Amino acid sequence: MGAALALAERGRGRTAPNPNVGCVIVREGQVVGRGWTQAGGRPHAEAMGLAEAGAEARGATAYVTLEPCAHQSPRGPACSDLLIEAGVARVVAGLEDPDPRTAGQGFARLEAAGIAVTRGFRANEARRSMAGFLTRQALGRPHVTLKLATSLDGCIALPDGASRWITGPQARAHAHLERSRHEAILVGRGTYDADAPRLDVRLPGLEARGPMRVLLSSTVQDVPGWTVIAAPHDIATLPDVDYILVEGGAAVASAFLAADLVDRLLLYRAPILIGGGKPALRDIGLTDLTKAHGGWAIVDARQLGMDRLEVYERERNEA
Ligand SMILES: NC(=O)c1ccc[n+]([C@@H]2O[C@H](COP(=O)([O-])OP(=O)(O)OC[C@H]3O[C@@H](n4cnc5c(N)ncnc54)[C@H](OP(=O)(O)O)[C@@H]3O)[C@@H](O)[C@H]2O)c1
Repeated sequence: MGAALALAERGRGRTAPNPNVGCVIVREGQVVGRGWTQAGGRPHAEAMGLAEAGAEARGATAYVTLEPCAHQSPRGPACSDLLIEAGVARVVAGLEDPDPRTAGQGFARLEAAGIAVTRGFRANEARRSMAGFLTRQALGRPHVTLKLATSLDGCIALPDGASRWITGPQARAHAHLERSRHEAILVGRGTYDADAPRLDVRLPGLEARGPMRVLLSSTVQDVPGWTVIAAPHDIATLPDVDYILVEGGAAVASAFLAADLVDRLLLYRAPILIGGGKPALRDIGLTDLTKAHGGWAIVDARQLGMDRLEVYERERNEA
């Protein structure tokens, strides 16, 4: 399942509106097939894994991060049917699919065909792995990651607005890798005017992964090469976007936090002091300090050259 979860990452930010799923098929201790949801959402991970396994799939165990789908589509057959046809003996799955077209029916179909099914295996990791699809299903909008690059004293720019560069090359390369894992990147008009950011992926081999560029502005309507939205909640209307990266600046970061639209926080902190610069955030509507606690859980922390990366996830009951 660990390998299936790793394969699922290959599709992150490329498969909307379908979930990025991973699949590994194992027979007598040997991996005979590997698959992950392809760009655009098809083929599904199981179809790819089974195609690689061929006849070796008979009697094998399929590890899948999500319940195999039960619905036929003009774009391909149901994966539960493919697994039955291939003669798989066992399916180990991470999560049940919340999509009402499957929602337990994939498991039921497999079991009716005599296939042993294990549900909920490494479910928390599977949930994180498909956060975009699950957020879209639960909240009707993309999964939002907010990126902030700050000094030790929490500034994102000098008093004159200069912010290139606060962090070093390793942290910036990591931020570019994060871009490649999102279908869209958003900045505010202030950042657009100050930095004219390209928002592309400048990493060898990933240059083609250029996400959709989104500009948040209530005054500008049309910018060539950009999709303009007028309010943070409008991210829900972006077509085929399940993962969006918000790259600032302070007004935009604050607006997304105030609207409780941030699910994941990437905090790159450089070992520098700015003092009197632009603070990372403005008012986010907090009036009671007790309400500030308990909303964020740290899920990763690491050194990137001279800089420190901390990753937090929003603790929210309904998602
Ligand atoms: N270190 C970092 O991580 C980092 C990252 C990005 C930017 N920066 C720096 O941050 C500075 C820019 O930050 P900033 O706070 O001045 O500007 P900003 O957040 O980039 O953009 C502010 C603009 O976004 C639009 N906006 C904000 N909230 C909105 C809402 N709720 N609805 C509709 N539109 C909204 C408004 O545009 P309209 O006025 O057109 O409506 C507003 O003027 C620059 O100096 C940049 O270099 C640093």
